[in-house]
Amino acid sequence: MAEKIDAYVNENRERFIEELKELMRFPSISAQSKHDGDTRACAEWLVAHFQKLGLEASLVDAGGQPIVRAQAKGKSAKRVMVYGHYDVQPEDPLDQWQTPPFEPTIKNGIIYGRGSTDDKGQVFAHVKAVESLLKTDGELPCEVLFLLEGEEESGGDALARYVRQAKDELKPDVVVVSDSTMYDEKTPAITYGLRGMAGFEFTVKGPDRDVHSGAYGGGIANPAMVVAQIMAACVAPDGKILIPHFYDDVAPLEPWEAESMAKLAFDDQAFVGELNVARPHGEAGFGTLERIWMRPTFEINGIYGGYTAEGAKTIIPASATVKVSARLVPHQDPSRIAKLIAEHIRSVCPDTVRLEMSDFAMCPPVLFDVNDPTFRAAQEALRQGFGAESVFIRCGGSIPVVSTFVEQLGCPVLLMGLGLDSDGPHSPNEHFSLDSFIKGTKAAAHLLRTI
Ligand code: BES
Ligand code: MN
Ligand code: MN
Repeated sequence: MAEKIDAYVNENRERFIEELKELMRFPSISAQSKHDGDTRACAEWLVAHFQKLGLEASLVDAGGQPIVRAQAKGKSAKRVMVYGHYDVQPEDPLDQWQTPPFEPTIKNGIIYGRGSTDDKGQVFAHVKAVESLLKTDGELPCEVLFLLEGEEESGGDALARYVRQAKDELKPDVVVVSDSTMYDEKTPAITYGLRGMAGFEFTVKGPDRDVHSGAYGGGIANPAMVVAQIMAACVAPDGKILIPHFYDDVAPLEPWEAESMAKLAFDDQAFVGELNVARPHGEAGFGTLERIWMRPTFEINGIYGGYTAEGAKTIIPASATVKVSARLVPHQDPSRIAKLIAEHIRSVCPDTVRLEMSDFAMCPPVLFDVNDPTFRAAQEALRQGFGAESVFIRCGGSIPVVSTFVEQLGCPVLLMGLGLDSDGPHSPNEHFSLDSFIKGTKAAAHLLRTI
């Protein structure tokens, strides 16, 4: 039976790829309201696609971008809920793309385009897995319920609201999340932890207009300089975060995790090499994998103020703004951390300027028990799909709704990702390996039979 499914996937490979291209052509950028029509059109395409495969599918309106819901019964009553997102990040900077972001292009077995790895390619592997099972067996081994959201990339909470409200009807036995990474291109992985986030923006305001830096320089506070000083008071050059009590609740590394990480023999030079960075940098006393998986961070995502166009202009800017986000690890609480950050920034900001703050993204970290039998079923499915042993990893990114699944659904959550950090999610020239797409489709089909 396993052979029949693999054969079906192989025979239909080219069509699957053509269909993935169709899905990738929608600029479903949830952060930009001018693309709301495209985002909806993408959701409608998915509903029609599911219906064509024989699933019962519809759009759910929970406010915000539509949720795609699709469902089919199976041999057993076990219900597997598959989560993913069909929205994508904005394409900018457009001039750095070598191929058009929304005209998927294949080069050397790799598909380029916005959403290829995050998350359309990963989602579509599960869609094609369901097709392959239906076409070879005539029915699914278990009940499958897809919930695909359209505002993961823009911090929306429509799906969280829907899950809270419909949990007694959804009642999955397990949730499969297809939005994370493999360890490397040959090694599939099960992700047992995601970082959380507390993000905000603050503006320092000085004079009520830009003023001559000769006439006023030295006589009043410079808002851009104050922003730089505040930021320098948040993180030390050795990577330690200076916000009081920030590390209080950080869980130490379990002995088995240290052992398992050592076995992975992470290559620091390869990690920085492809980014053209001289060497890794991060919190003193920790290795790279630990820094990106198990340690919290405080990062500037954007900073602006004053004159930023060509040439020089001697002014003191009226204001300067910085967007920051902290990645959180178990057992840090996002609202407590947000409070600590806000208090610290207020306490180091001089009273010669005015400070305005607003918060946005906020989500808790998640951590799963790797001894869950679901994880063993996934290892077997990955073995069948990839012909390789999988490893347990954590991922540095965040998928906000996952904590709502944990809290509301009371069932195991399995993160079985197919992407790679080096696929360039959120970057220009985002791409996805077609080999991972095809092997991932096989693994996803086997998963529904072994889970
Ligand atoms: N798929 C990513 C999260 C991810 C990245 C998981 C790498 C595992 C490895 C997701 O689409 C994402 O980008 N999430 C955002 C959430 C934010 C907008 C609240 C993130 O992590 O920045
Ligand atoms: Mn994603
Ligand atoms: Mn993303």
